[in-house]
Amino acid sequence: MKYLVLTLLFYSSSYAVDDNFIKDAKELTSELKMSLMKNLSDKMGKDGVAAAVPFCHANVKLIAKKAAKNKVELYEFGRTSHKLRNSNNSPQPWAHDYLKAFAGRKRGEIKKDYIVHKLENGKRVFMEPLYVEAKCLLCHGENVSSNVKDKIQELYPDDKAFGFKLDEFRGFIWIKEKT
Ligand code: HEC
Repeated sequence: MKYLVLTLLFYSSSYAVDDNFIKDAKELTSELKMSLMKNLSDKMGKDGVAAAVPFCHANVKLIAKKAAKNKVELYEFGRTSHKLRNSNNSPQPWAHDYLKAFAGRKRGEIKKDYIVHKLENGKRVFMEPLYVEAKCLLCHGENVSSNVKDKIQELYPDDKAFGFKLDEFRGFIWIKEKT
């Protein structure tokens, strides 16, 4: 299994590219990450971590749309993980093997900044691994404070996205060419 996954990781990124997909995808992921974290940090700074939980819940789609601007028609995008908070972010079939390969790994263990996976219909998916930073621990770590935990439980009763350690793989941000 391990060998298969590593082969997959290697093969998936090794063909030549002849258009702007990778360039667009890199731009989009960094914009998405920046505006997501900026909005979350602003809210946490102003009103505290617990108040930022529903804020993130309500605004994440809007933020993503705003960041993607005119690319919205070309691509679909989202976040996914092996340990989910919101089941709307459940992995699509193409993400399963990569999630398995990255689950539990630390930053730097798998030397890939991103993965490009080709679907059977020829369309591609760009996946960038996200690793846990100190500020993520406030809502995804091992010692989430009880008022934050309560708020999360209220909105996401099936939450599995806690207990993460610093620098651990958290999930992918992904961009997919529309069919
Ligand atoms: C204020 C609390 C808070 C902080 C801080 C936070 N998150 Fe989250 N995170 C959430 C909530 C709430 C969701 C569910 C969002 C939704 O409904 O789509 C979520 C969802 C996610 C998801 C989507 C997969 C899933 O489980 O549904 C990823 C990936 C993620 N967070 C990564 C991070 C990373 C990486 C950081 C740090 C850079 C971070 N988060 C910081 C609250 C937080």
